[in-house]
Amino acid sequence: MGTWIVNGQILDGENNRVAKSVFIENGRIAKIVDGEVAVKDTEGHELIDAAGQLIAPGLIDMHVHLREPGFEHKETIATGTRSAARGGFTTIACMPNTRPVIDTPETVKYVLDKAESEGIVRVLPYGCITDNQLGRELTDFAALKEAGVFAFTDDGVGVQSAQMMKDAMTKAAALGMPVVAHCEDNTLVVGAAVTEGAFARKHGLKGIPNESEAIHVGRDILLAEATGVHYHVCHVSTEQSVRLIRQAKQLGIKVTAEVCPHHLLLSDEDIPGMDANWKMNPPLRTPKDVKACIEGLEDGTIDIVVTDHAPHSEEEKAKGMEAAPFGIVGFETAFPLLYTKFVLTGQWTLQFLLDRMTVKPAEVFELDWGTLKVGAAADIVLIDLEAEKEVDPSEFLSKGRNTPFTGWKLKGWPTQTMVAGRVVWSEA
Ligand code: DOR
Ligand code: ZN
Repeated sequence: MGTWIVNGQILDGENNRVAKSVFIENGRIAKIVDGEVAVKDTEGHELIDAAGQLIAPGLIDMHVHLREPGFEHKETIATGTRSAARGGFTTIACMPNTRPVIDTPETVKYVLDKAESEGIVRVLPYGCITDNQLGRELTDFAALKEAGVFAFTDDGVGVQSAQMMKDAMTKAAALGMPVVAHCEDNTLVVGAAVTEGAFARKHGLKGIPNESEAIHVGRDILLAEATGVHYHVCHVSTEQSVRLIRQAKQLGIKVTAEVCPHHLLLSDEDIPGMDANWKMNPPLRTPKDVKACIEGLEDGTIDIVVTDHAPHSEEEKAKGMEAAPFGIVGFETAFPLLYTKFVLTGQWTLQFLLDRMTVKPAEVFELDWGTLKVGAAADIVLIDLEAEKEVDPSEFLSKGRNTPFTGWKLKGWPTQTMVAGRVVWSEA
């Protein structure tokens, strides 16, 4: 028995193909049909009526924090993957800043086993660049690769030593693996919670300068050029970083980059007060930086959109702007936010948005998913592009409620998510 999804509007980031129905067999896409499907053809198969819905490839998120092992009060692989599925994501890549951190084959195995037994979407673990993310010793890259990591990062902190980063890149390049960097120079960050800018001035706070990110971006681009590694920049937030990446790409250096919805939609001038739901790292920057990030994504300098889904408990976030941990949740708002604010306003096509959340992440990290074509895995999301709904954190499947987008009225809500042809989440 197979599954027919009928009466929808099929679009993927790659083909701009307008079709209506898709047939799934053995977890893969077996047929795509432009017009109506005769009732007799659907007999004996499961039938999903997608009338009024977009049928798109499952979204891919290459930067998420699932918190397990060690911080299960913030999120687990079970709750995080459910939150992802509700947001339309079918493949997510989890950051290694857990406890223990993902720096040994044993921890990689723990995460993969949990994802297999309790997760409902595909989970790709990152491995640490340095032991315990302390920046002192490189991890055993070959052993971590063997255990199943697809790339290396110390996300959460920057690799402070240039020599350490160069050694990491040399080793990763030899294994054909990407180095993915949280760019932050600790000699410039002085325990600040927000960016240098209007909000910091108004509240008499120290600010995180743009250079603390861009200095690492510039340094690492030079090291990537020297080592030939595939270097990927995490959550780009500043004009200077965009400029450096644009120039590096023009020079043919193998660099790719990502940006988060909040850095495309919010600046420090939008922060309403000392509310830690507006605190994340990198912080919300100035309107000039927001503009540069949007332009960077639009001209291909920045390749992909990621959420940096970073759940924290309400108690932790209640500590206030200065003491609370950095991070906001992202899975369950990312697509509706970008669809409503960039596609419905006419700035982007729907295909452009899908491309940056499906085809491009698959391309950048050489993944098998992200497009609807015959023979591909049936990772599919159905999205209602019409119904408008308010962001209500109390409905989130994530344990985290920490979002600055509460109450935003949005369209483009996923209604059903399938991984390998199996429905893993369905609205209601
Ligand atoms: O906002 C953030 N949250 N930025 C990071 O780099 C780490 C993350 C987390 O783990 O909470
Ligand atoms: Zn980070």
